[in-house]
Amino acid sequence: MKNTIMASMIGLLIVSTINADEFMQKDLDLWTAEYQSVVKKGRKVFTDPKLGTNTVTCNECHPNATNTHPETYPKFQKQLGKVATMSEMINWCIANPLEGKKMALDDPRMTALIAYITWERRGVKLEPGKH
Ligand code: HEC
Repeated sequence: MKNTIMASMIGLLIVSTINADEFMQKDLDLWTAEYQSVVKKGRKVFTDPKLGTNTVTCNECHPNATNTHPETYPKFQKQLGKVATMSEMINWCIANPLEGKKMALDDPRMTALIAYITWERRGVKLEPGKH
């Protein structure tokens, strides 16, 4: 019993000292660098002729991520017949224009593609569901 009370007091103490808004500058710098390295990797995947099977790259139809509209997801997509995330639409493009194999939604290349596309469209107002 005593131990339980002690444990919850320690828990409270920990929670009250962690403020989600207070990060160390060196952490912020590290996380930004990590993010930018994934954006860079995404640009590579986006322009990789070996991603699909027919040497077509994402960049040919979406130069610099144009017409990808990450700010509109999730939304109803006619090709998929349902409300979908951008990852599912990316997989549609991998399977169709690129004639490739769909990726697991948590594939690091998928994360990199999303990081790249979203970075290119930074600052655009979120408009989920919009066409
Ligand atoms: C041959 C041209 C072509 C290629 C190559 C291509 N796409 Fe697409 N992409 C399309 C078309 C067509 C659509 C459907 C547009 C629509 O109906 O919204 C689309 C839609 C998308 C969308 C959703 C756009 C929206 O407005 O909702 C994303 C995101 C996307 N593509 C990413 C990719 C990625 C990533 C790749 C590479 C794996 C890729 N595309 C390769 C033609 C292409």
